[in-house]
Amino acid sequence: MTTSSYEADPAQVRRVLLLYSGGLDTSVMLKWIQEKYDAEVVALTVDLGQPGEDYEVIRGKALELGAIDARIVDAREEFAGEYVVPAIKANAIYGLGYPLFTALGRPLIATKAVEIARETGCDTIAHGCTGKGNDQVRIEATIATVAPELKVIAPVRSWQMGREEEIAYAREHGIKVKGGTEMGVPYSIDDNLWGRSSEGRWIEDLDHAPEDDVFQLVTRPEDAPDEAEVVTLEFERGVPVALNGSRLALVELLEQAGAIGARHGVGIVDHIEDRIVGLKVRDIYEVPAAAIVLTAHQELEKLVCTIHQNQLKPVLDQKWAYLVYAGLWLEPLRSDLDAYMEAANEQVTGEIGLKLYKGSVRVITRSSPNAVYDAQLATFAESGGLFSQAASPGFIELWSLQSRMAWRIRQGR
Ligand code: ARG
Repeated sequence: MTTSSYEADPAQVRRVLLLYSGGLDTSVMLKWIQEKYDAEVVALTVDLGQPGEDYEVIRGKALELGAIDARIVDAREEFAGEYVVPAIKANAIYGLGYPLFTALGRPLIATKAVEIARETGCDTIAHGCTGKGNDQVRIEATIATVAPELKVIAPVRSWQMGREEEIAYAREHGIKVKGGTEMGVPYSIDDNLWGRSSEGRWIEDLDHAPEDDVFQLVTRPEDAPDEAEVVTLEFERGVPVALNGSRLALVELLEQAGAIGARHGVGIVDHIEDRIVGLKVRDIYEVPAAAIVLTAHQELEKLVCTIHQNQLKPVLDQKWAYLVYAGLWLEPLRSDLDAYMEAANEQVTGEIGLKLYKGSVRVITRSSPNAVYDAQLATFAESGGLFSQAASPGFIELWSLQSRMAWRIRQGR
């Protein structure tokens, strides 16, 4: 008995598309699926710009473990252009700190899984998510939406192997285990070109301050250079197009921004998070690119939008981030909101200068042809009649009318 429309009936599983990372869980899975279901496995690894990954090694390992086919899909440009850019336009941050890099990657990974599953004649997609996280929701919701004919299996949710059992299974089946048991349980890592998360171990003790070894991307602020560095970021219609004056392709721009930020200790977030499945969890994020790009975008947007737009947009931004966090990338409300994001970002063209120093990012310069700003009007010096200060008392009289009336009535009681 299955509880959902898309869970696989074990007897029907013939060929499985496995979302394969090369790590312990999915390597054990690659063997386990062959044994348990007597099924063939096609391995798929999606490159979203995870730093330092050797995809040929991963591919080789999959084939060695018996995959009939092992594919690597380079989806970096698509990820940057179709997922990260909309997130930038929506200033996407969930729960005041999380720039959604994992949440943005999952629907793309699931979409690639569907594509390759169809191409290679798979009837089922397998992933390595646990039953406690958001990622299972994001992946399965996407697959069930776009490919109702495909089934899903999530072995980690059902096999009830702990890490020790997995290592034992791996040893028995000739799967190479990096590090071994003596290293203890490692952090659970997920990363792509928009950020990196660590979970597990002492991170689960809320009163345990971060240990240095968790930071593998961002330099600890106390070790960052003593000299501040200024970076400029140029946007066209909400899209970052140039860094320090040189125009770059998106992936390269995000990678370079990330590298500069990482050097200066920028983008460390120690985050308590409300998962969609009800749990409250702590994550350590390293998001140097997002810390720079989102800060700059938000500043430029504020400059070119009116007071009314600036009051509404954060409300819509928050809703956008929540939908994406919650696995509803394909929910129509997300594309409805995107229509607004596009409209608001039409004006977001210009350049922002930021100063990076030992973990901090601070906006120091702004310029835009669309700035709703007139230095002549804003100045403390005489504005030459453009802004009539003589009109102000009349404005204040009417602006405060209701508040004054209410005050008097309440005092009178
Ligand atoms: N808490 C973040 C999220 O829900 C990061 C999850 C990282 N995923 C992982 N499998 N380690 O998006």
